[in-house]
Parts: sequence; structure tokens; C-alpha cells
Amino acid sequence: MSGRSMESRKQLDRNKLGLGLFGANCSGGLAITTVPERWDASWENNQKLARMADDAGMDFMLPLGRWKGYGGVTDHNAANFETMTWATGILASTQNIVAFGTVHVSLFNPVAAAKQMVTADHVGQGRFGLNIVCGWNHDEFDMLGVNLAQHEDRYEQGQEWVDIITRAWSTDKPFDYDGRFYQVHKTDVRPKPYGGDRPMIVCAGNSPRGRDYAARNADVMFTNLRSELDEVPENVSELKAMAAAYNRNINIFSNVALVCRPTKKEAEEYFHYYAVENADWDAAENMIVGRGIKKPGMPEEAVQAALIRAAGGNGASPIIGDPDDVVAMMKRLSESGISALAMGFTNYLDHFPYFRDEVLPRLVREGLRAE
Ligand SMILES: Cc1cc2nc3c(=O)[nH]c(=O)nc-3n(C[C@H](O)[C@H](O)[C@H](O)COP(=O)(O)O)c2cc1C
Repeated sequence: MSGRSMESRKQLDRNKLGLGLFGANCSGGLAITTVPERWDASWENNQKLARMADDAGMDFMLPLGRWKGYGGVTDHNAANFETMTWATGILASTQNIVAFGTVHVSLFNPVAAAKQMVTADHVGQGRFGLNIVCGWNHDEFDMLGVNLAQHEDRYEQGQEWVDIITRAWSTDKPFDYDGRFYQVHKTDVRPKPYGGDRPMIVCAGNSPRGRDYAARNADVMFTNLRSELDEVPENVSELKAMAAAYNRNINIFSNVALVCRPTKKEAEEYFHYYAVENADWDAAENMIVGRGIKKPGMPEEAVQAALIRAAGGNGASPIIGDPDDVVAMMKRLSESGISALAMGFTNYLDHFPYFRDEVLPRLVREGLRAE
């Protein structure tokens, strides 16, 4: 990394395998379920969770960028905090943990967004991180009255957006930018991010175009593990090679749904209880259709698997087992080249403490996390 290393990178560099909590800013979090203990994303719960995670030495809190619910009986994710303001509150409430904003390119003017993020970064003394999402959800964009550009255009717009933001953060003199999507003049953003270097940039995407965008611009590519575990090392190498083609180094984060219980049987039963017996199937269906995961003519078995994966954790890979199983899986992902995992728990406040007490010390013993 060039320049002065800011706090968010330092925090994440401490551990061989970074760990964060994903999705706590939205009702239901990652789990599309009707169980009574499903996540209530109140501010009180978010703040309590952030402090608990911070005290436990967790690396980051990563919000979902959501504006509207997925329907179903729970209207999954319908109550959601806007993420840059959420991150600012989390940073003001904590000491060491990184808080990301998950920012939709086309919904925020880049200069205004650059300033909002600088504000969050100063509140957190360098602990703000940017997760860029170029968007996919027509329903949400319609709600905001914004036309979601076609796929390739979305990333072209994203390129202009990130170019403007990074210039606004680094250039001492006022600058002009004349792009296809944005024209800004005599742009002068002060103060600069805390400590002088830019916040860490993560990009979330799965398509080749989305991954190319991340390879070109991000410190971290945040991507789903859709492949078999055996294929992960090769996939990671491919992603890293894409960044190397731009003379860049990139880390890979992935999303996981975590169920850890004293025995594997209990963990599997709990997963079955919330993600199968009590799934909010209509919301899960809306998610897989909206994201284009469910395709016409897809075999029923594959549809079922996609629905359970959606219900289990918004499409994240499940990690289910006793503490040793969880550690073994995490070790394997780390050895496959994954730098950090963004985790969902059905109820973060109820379920994180067991993970903290049983899994974190084992990860230290395995050399995956610092003391
Ligand atoms: C791990 C991961 C997390 C994502 N999180 C969000 C999110 O919080 N909000 C959102 O609107 N899109 C999210 N996305 C969607 C991406 O930003 C992108 O719009 C989507 O993957 C479609 O682009 P693609 O075809 O390039 O993958 C996420 C994608 C991935 C892979």
C-alpha cells in the first residue's frame, strides 16, 4: 500500500484471517427467516453489537446497502439504516473496529459522497472503509427515482465515480473532471481523509465486468464463493491475476452464514430450523429472481438449493458445525487465499458470544488470528 497506512488497513493487516460482521444494519440481517429471534436491526442493537465485536477484537462491521424489503411475511431487510450515517455512528461508538459504508454509485453524487466519507473517517480516526456496489435492484432504484443503467454502463459510471472520489481525497488543488456521467468543476474537498491516505476500498461484484472493476480500483474484492471448495484456490489466483494485470495487489473477502453450536448435530438442526422449516420462502424467492440466480428452465433441485442458500444467509456460503468444524473450514478458506470473512448470524447478539468464546481462541491457536 502506498502512503501512510491508515487505521482501517492496519486493523485488517493484524490478522491472517480477518473477520467481520455483515448485514446487521438491516432487519433480518442475512437470514431470510420467520423465527422469532430473527434480527431486529434497531440502533440500540447495532451499537451494542458493534461494541461487543470491538471488545472481542473483531476487524470490521460491514453493512448491506439496502433501501427496500424483499417482501414475504417478514419483508426481509425492509427496515434498514443508510450505511454512511450508520458507519459514522458505529465509529463514534467504538475504538478499533473498522466500519464500512456500502455505497451505491448512482445514488450519491461523488463529491458529496467523498465528503460524507471523510466525515465518517475523521469520526473514526481513519477507521472508515468504502464498499462500492454498482447496484442491481430495479425495485429499489425505482423507489429512489433513479434509472439503473445497463450492466456495462453501470461499471463505466462506477469508474468515473471512483476516479472523482479518489481525486477529491488526494488532490491539493481544485480539479475539473469531464466525464460521460459526471462533470465537476473546481472541485476542492477539505479536509482530506484522516491521516492523509484514502480509506480502504472494497468492491462487491460477481460478474467478470464487476470483478475487473474491483481488480482495477479496489484493495479488496468482495465476492461470493459459488464454486466448490476445491476450486477456491484457483478462483482466488485468477482474481489476483486480474489485479496483477493492472499492477495491483488485491485481497479477497467473502461472505458466510455462520451457525456454531457445541455439536455439529445441534448446528445442523438450527440451520434446518431457521433456513428450511421457518424460511420466509416468498422473500427468498424474490431475492433469487431479482438477482437473476433463478433462471428459466433451472432444475427444481437447483432452485431449492438456491432458495435454502438465500434463506440461510442472503446467498452467503454456510459454515455450520461445532467450534472445531468452524475453525477447520475457516483454515481451509484462509489457505485457499481468502483474506477475510464477512459473517452473518441469525441473531448477532445472541449467537456471536459463543463464536467469540469458542472459535476466536482456537483461531489464535491455529495462527490465523493475533492474540
Ligand atoms: C458479496 C457481495 C455483497 C454484495 N452486497 C450488496 C449490497 O449490500 N447491496 C447491493 O445493492 N448489492 C450488493 N451486491 C451486489 C453487487 O454490488 C452487484 O450489483 C451485483 O453483484 C451485480 O453485479 P455483477 O453482475 O457485476 O456481480 C453484493 C455482491 C456481492 C458479491
